[in-house]
Amino acid sequence: AIEQTLSIIKPDAVKKQIIGEIQTRIHQAKLDIIAIKMVKLTKEQAEGFYAEHQDKPFFANLVNFMMSGPIVVQVLQGENGVERYRQLMGPTDLSKAAAGTLRADFANSMRENAVHGSDSLASAEREIAYFFVDSEIFQ
Ligand code: CMP
Repeated sequence: AIEQTLSIIKPDAVKKQIIGEIQTRIHQAKLDIIAIKMVKLTKEQAEGFYAEHQDKPFFANLVNFMMSGPIVVQVLQGENGVERYRQLMGPTDLSKAAAGTLRADFANSMRENAVHGSDSLASAEREIAYFFVDSEIFQ
């Protein structure tokens, strides 16, 4: 089925000016960018976005990292989009990421891992609504 997923180009990747390179990979993977904005998260916004991780030991550092600079949030659309974008990113643990994946090629560390993608269709719905209203999404 055609699915939408939320993609974030994180502060580390924005600082490196590789937004375009990441979007080229997204295009080559036949995923369409149907919504996009650059934002700088407040602490409250970063904490709310990652609420499911609030009890994890890495939560505070994750929130600080995500508000350390602007990010690009985008909605991607394509066949089996949630899973296909996750495959393009590679796993969170970049030591396990295959060459050619976004994280193998662009991540600095487990935390500063260049990109985020929704982990399920239900997460995608919540995460897209966290950043976009319907009139900002162009199918
Ligand atoms: P993301 O896919 O955005 O979802 C949660 C984020 O937490 C993850 O990418 C990383 O940025 C970060 N993260 C996950 N696991 C760890 C970890 N073990 N140590 C530090 N950061 C982590």
